[in-house]
Order: sequence, then structure tokens, then C-alpha cells
Amino acid sequence: MSKKHVVLLFGGNSSEHDVSKRSAYNYYQALKQTGKYDLSVIAIAQNGYFIDAERSFEIMNQADEGPLVDAYMQTVAQDEILSPIAALQALPKIDIFFPVVHGNLGEDGTLQGLFRLLQKPYVGASLRGHAISFDKVITKEILTANGIRNTKYLVTYQNDEQPLTWAKVEKELGSPVFVKAANQGSSVGISRAENEAEFEAALADSFQYDRKVLVEAAVNGPRELEVGVIGNDDILVSEIGAHQVPDQGGDGKGWYDYQSKFVDNSAVSFEIPAKLPEEVTAEIKAMAKKAYQVLNLAGEARMDFLIDNNNVPYLGEPNTLPGFTNMSLFKRLWDYSNIDNAKLADMMVQYGFEAFDRDQQISYSFESLGEEKVGTFNGKK
Ligand SMILES: Nc1ncnc2c1ncn2[C@@H]1O[C@H](COP(=O)(O)OP(=O)(O)O)[C@@H](O)[C@H]1O
Ligand SMILES: [Mg+2]
Repeated sequence: MSKKHVVLLFGGNSSEHDVSKRSAYNYYQALKQTGKYDLSVIAIAQNGYFIDAERSFEIMNQADEGPLVDAYMQTVAQDEILSPIAALQALPKIDIFFPVVHGNLGEDGTLQGLFRLLQKPYVGASLRGHAISFDKVITKEILTANGIRNTKYLVTYQNDEQPLTWAKVEKELGSPVFVKAANQGSSVGISRAENEAEFEAALADSFQYDRKVLVEAAVNGPRELEVGVIGNDDILVSEIGAHQVPDQGGDGKGWYDYQSKFVDNSAVSFEIPAKLPEEVTAEIKAMAKKAYQVLNLAGEARMDFLIDNNNVPYLGEPNTLPGFTNMSLFKRLWDYSNIDNAKLADMMVQYGFEAFDRDQQISYSFESLGEEKVGTFNGKK
């Protein structure tokens, strides 16, 4: 039997464009190690164009992206409707897509919609799972409805007639709070606020990124925990990892902002498995699994938690396309759970085929309607 052809997609138009390159490189190596697949890579440039496989391979291997994208754009008939995705046409028969595009396009369900239209299997959650989990407000509503502990929150819209005041926030949520654009990631559009001036500045910042903003009670002196989850109906949960930035414990003001996440990670301390009382470990794993189910996730996800001074865990957020760089906890957590990178990537591909086969069993009913028969309106035909 010939090898299945896996197409890795990376890049995209989010702040995690470069992170995605590193993730894709590691998945490429992991899949190569299995010896089971033919592999191609497609970069999605910041302008949204899918770049041809040869240049994409160089981009994934850290070649200077700008000139390669410019050169490719010279070859594209940009007035043709499918030109942004024309690079797919040149590939040999595709068996499955493996999206490694973090943030917009990859993590909000857009690419998954494309795969569905193309009638191809793909790795990871569906359009619905991604889209739900990408919206921090909808996620919290679903978690809350399903009894999964998360922090207290308020929601405010840019066109609200009565703007949300600091007095109300402080009364209902206390201080400090975290203010977040509803549909963003990578700590972009997020601020910590502990007085009116900071709150107003935080709101103005978040509204640059979304018309809907979440205001969340802060977890005191938190430790941040991350758990990997994979599978479709049979769900596996990894060991728990912890990380803390300087000045985050106790009354500290530190938090995992863009700087400490991506720019300089060197002061962040990691621990796997996180030292926690046994019952707290079990509770977190159970919360992660339940959240994966109720958020319609499949294939892979990382569940992030905040745990307070009294070891009470709060589900922070799901990540439906977790980073797989050398500093990503998701990558390391599975090692500690006795699933090495090659096995993990292989399992993810198999989950993709499984989910596709399962969806093929779903029936859609088509009934031809024949002649249109309209009722009466205000007594008249
Ligand atoms: N309620 C909270 N209490 C304490 N710290 C928080 C809270 N919400 C967010 N943070 C801090 O902000 C970071 C980013 O928030 P998060 O909701 O994970 O957004 P993103 O999608 O950008 O990662 C967290 O990793 C944590 O350091
Ligand atoms: Mg986060």
C-alpha cells in the first residue's frame, strides 16, 4: 500500500506566524521519523496566500520569507478566484491536512471550513470546536453551563449604551481584573487592571482587537498549569505541567504576557509533572477531559488552568492548536506521559482519519420539494 500523503500547513496572519514555523518543523521531523507518510508543507504567507511546496519547505527551514513570498506572488494569477489557495492544486493527491497554524485562520475554524469544502480529512478539532474555543466569552458560557470552574466575569460590547464602569467591575469582581479582547490569543489585547485609570486604558486597548471584551476576576498568586488532551471518543489526558513568571506568586503583578511567552522565555520556570496534591491532580485532569467534550474538541488540545493559593483550579482557556516548539509544554508533556513526538504526531493523524470516517456516517437528508405551496397572509393567498 502506498504511503498516505500528509500536508502540513503553517504560518498564517496572526502574531504567532513565526511560532507556527517552529511547530511545523517539529511535527515534520516527528512524522518523518515514523517512516509512514509522504510529507508536503504549505506556508500561508502573512497576505493569506498559500505558497508552493518547494518555497514553503525553505521557509519552514528558516530561509528569509519575504523574498520567497514575493517570488511566488510573481507566478500567481491574482485575479483568479482560487488564487490564494492555488498552490494546493500543484500537489499530488492529498490524503489528509495537518494544520499547524496558530491563532487566526487555523485556530478560529477558517481552515477547517476549507478542508470540509474540499472533502478531505484533517488533524484536530472541527470548525465548530475551534470557533467555539477561540471566543473567550462563548467558552466561559459553555464551561459555566457545564459546571466547570472558571473565574467570575463580565462582558462588555463596544456599542453598549451604558459603558461598563470600574465601580461595577470592582463591586462584582473585585480587583485586580484581567481585561481581554474576546477573540484573540498570545496575550494580545490583554491587560491587568487594578484601578479606574488602568481599567479604562485596558478597555480601550482590548477594543482595538474586538468589539466584545471580557473582564475577568484575577486568580490570586496563581500558578499556571497546562494539560495536553488528545483523541476523539477515547480521550487521553497528559501529565500536568506548571510554569510561573517572576513576581507572579503571592501579591505579585507578574503574568504571562507576550514578552515572557515568546520574546524572552528565559525567566519562566517550568515543572513537569507539577507538584500538586493527588486529588487536585485528579480534579484538573477530569476538568480538562470534560471541557474537551463540551467544547466539541477532537484530535488535540491543550487546557490551561490557573490555580490559586489554596490549590483551587480554574479552567483558564482551551488552546485548540497548541504550540509545538522546543519551548512548548504541550510537546514535553507527552514525553513525560510516555508518548514520544513521533508516536504523538502519528496518533494525531490517525485521529484525523478516524474523525473523517465517523463524520461520513452522519446522514444528511435531501428532500426535493416539488411545487411551492404557500399559506395565506392576512387572509389572502
Ligand atoms: N483571571 C486571571 N487571573 C490571573 N492571571 C490571569 C487571568 N487571566 C489571564 N491571566 C494571565 O494572562 C495570561 C494570558 O491570558 P489567557 O486567557 O491565557 O489569554 P491568551 O489566549 O492570550 O493566552 C495568562 O497566561 C495569565 O498569565
Ligand atoms: Mg493563554
